[in-house]
Amino acid sequence: MAYKDLHDQPFDETTIVKLEIFQDYAQAWIPTFVMQDHVEEIHIFDFFAGTGYDKNGVPGSPVRLLNKIQEQKGHLFQKQVKVVVHLNEFEPNKKNQKKYEQLKKSCSGFMNNDKNLERKVTLKFYNEDFETLFSKLLPEIKQYPSLVYLDQNGIKFIATKYFLELEKTSQTDFLYFVSSSYLWRFGHSDEFKAHFNIDMDLVKKQGYEQIHRTVTQELRKKLPTNTRLKLYPFSLKKGTNIYGIIFGASHPRAVDKFLDIGWKRNGENGDANFDIDNEAQIAQLDAFTGQRLSKIDSFKKEVEKKVLNKEIRNNTELLDFTYEAGHIPKHAADCVRELKKVGKLIYESRSPLVTYDNVHKYHKKVQYLINK
Ligand SMILES: C[S@@+](CC[C@H](N)C(=O)[O-])C[C@H]1O[C@@H](n2cnc3c(N)ncnc32)[C@H](O)[C@@H]1O
Repeated sequence: MAYKDLHDQPFDETTIVKLEIFQDYAQAWIPTFVMQDHVEEIHIFDFFAGTGYDKNGVPGSPVRLLNKIQEQKGHLFQKQVKVVVHLNEFEPNKKNQKKYEQLKKSCSGFMNNDKNLERKVTLKFYNEDFETLFSKLLPEIKQYPSLVYLDQNGIKFIATKYFLELEKTSQTDFLYFVSSSYLWRFGHSDEFKAHFNIDMDLVKKQGYEQIHRTVTQELRKKLPTNTRLKLYPFSLKKGTNIYGIIFGASHPRAVDKFLDIGWKRNGENGDANFDIDNEAQIAQLDAFTGQRLSKIDSFKKEVEKKVLNKEIRNNTELLDFTYEAGHIPKHAADCVRELKKVGKLIYESRSPLVTYDNVHKYHKKVQYLINK
C-alpha cells in the first residue's frame, strides 16, 4: 500500500484537527500526573513523530507536546517531576534518514531555547521501525504513567497485538491514528486479515461514513472480557476519506477528559469533525419513533428510561453509563435535573452530582428515587 508522505506538503486542515486533539489531550494529561504527590517521573512516547514542523513551520506532534510540557514548567519544578519524552521517526527502505535528522534538530532546537526546561525534561530520540521499537519500550510504558501517540500512516499498525499489549498496562493512555477507510477497501484481503480480522459484513452494513466507529467497535470485541480498557473513536473526514483517532485508557478520569475534548470540538456528536449522523436532516420523520432524535436527545431518552425503570439508581451508575455511551456528564445531569423539575424524580442534593469529581474524587453519593 502506498502512502502519501505527510511532510511533503503543509499539513492540511484534517491533520491540524488531529494534531490539536493530540495536543489538547496532552494539555489535560500532563498536569493530572504532575500535580499528584507521589509521581516522580512521567513518560510520553511519540512513535511516529515526523519532522517536528511542516513545510510552513507549523508544529507537528512532537513540538506541540514540548509546548504543552513547557506550559507546565512551573509545576514540574514545584512538584519535582521529571518528564521523559521518547521520539521516534523512521523511514522504511531509506538509507538516508532525513526526517529523523530534522526531528532531532527541531526538538533539540526547542530545548536549547529553554535551558531551564532541560533540567526537567529528557528527550530520547530513536530511528527504528515501530515494529521492533514498540516491544523494546514496552517495559518503560508499563513502569511509568505514560501517554502514547501512535500516529501511523495508513492502517498497518492497527494489529490487535499492539492493542492487547496496551490493554495490559494500567496507567497508559494512548491515541492511535487509523486511516479507517482503507479498511473499507482492503479489509477483505488475507494480508490485512492476518493483522486485524474485521467483520466485513458488519463494516458494509453500518456504512462507509461509520467506518471508524465500526473499527473501534470491532477492536473492543477483541479485548479480554474483563478488561478495564475503554476505547473511543473520533472520526475525521477529508474529502472522501475517513480517518480517525482511537483513544484508549482504563481510568475514568482519562475517559472524562477525552470525551470532554471531543464534545468541545463537536457539540452535536462529540466524535467526528463532520455531521456523521446526518443531524442536519433531523427534522425528517422516522417511521419507528415518529421523529428522529439527535444523538444527545436519544441519549437523554435512554437515561430517562433507565432511571425510571431503576436500572440506574444513583450518580455513580449514571456516570458509568454516560461514559460507556460516549457522552459527557452534562448531558446526563441535564436529563436528571429535568426529571426532577417535572416531578418524576427525587434526589436529596441541589445537583444530580454526576461529574467525575463528585463520584471519583469526593466520593459523593446520591440516590435517584422515583416520585410515585
Ligand atoms: C502520519 S506521520 C506522523 C506525523 C507526526 N505525528 C507529525 O505530527 O508530524 C507518520 C510518520 O511515521 C513514519 N514511519 C513510517 N513507517 C514507520 C515505521 N515502520 N516505524 C516508525 N515510523 C514510521 C513516517 O516517516 C512518518 O513521518
